[in-house]
Amino acid sequence: MKAGIFVLLSCFLLLFFLDASNGILAQDDDGASELQPKQVFAKIPGLYDDVLAKMKKREISMTKILVAIPKGDFDTIKSEGEKINNEYSIEYDMDPDIQIDYNSMITSEFVFMDQDLVQYSSALASSAEEKYLEGVLIHFDQVMRSCVNCHYTFAKEKFPSLARSSVEE
Ligand code: HEC
Repeated sequence: MKAGIFVLLSCFLLLFFLDASNGILAQDDDGASELQPKQVFAKIPGLYDDVLAKMKKREISMTKILVAIPKGDFDTIKSEGEKINNEYSIEYDMDPDIQIDYNSMITSEFVFMDQDLVQYSSALASSAEEKYLEGVLIHFDQVMRSCVNCHYTFAKEKFPSLARSSVEE
């Protein structure tokens, strides 16, 4: 019995270390780009304005979803979730040449955070399509957290009081 617990604990520890070393590797990969996303947007003509316009549209969609949930208006949740997932994503319809430039400069942490938003907004739209309320609530929370996480990390100047908020218990 004791041996069983020991083996189980060892497995957990091993998983923990594997996970930690993955984190270190991901950071090393990131070393390629030192530029903040805002600096990258500024280097590509028109990109910064485009990103801000999409952010404003994301905000409007989130407001629409927020008021649709308590009414069970699944059609609105689905269509707004799909817009966040698709046409309001930063890389939507990006010219292939610009995409190469963008990929060479943007930090992978930012890309991963944007992918979180894509993933969760897609899950939100699917839950709405199935009229699965609990799923809608869970994925709405995840979408909101994706907005907040990225702003907390990459929009400190724009949203200083968010950056100063406490995240630890
Ligand atoms: C992967 C990163 C990322 C995600 C995810 C993200 N944002 Fe942003 N957002 C930014 C950055 C970076 C800026 C600020 C750019 C700057 O410094 O001017 C910004 C700015 C904004 C602005 C200000 C726009 C303006 O005109 O000043 C709004 C509103 C906004 N985001 C809404 C949202 C909403 C709502 C979501 C989620 C549905 C979201 N963002 C998700 C990175 C992100």
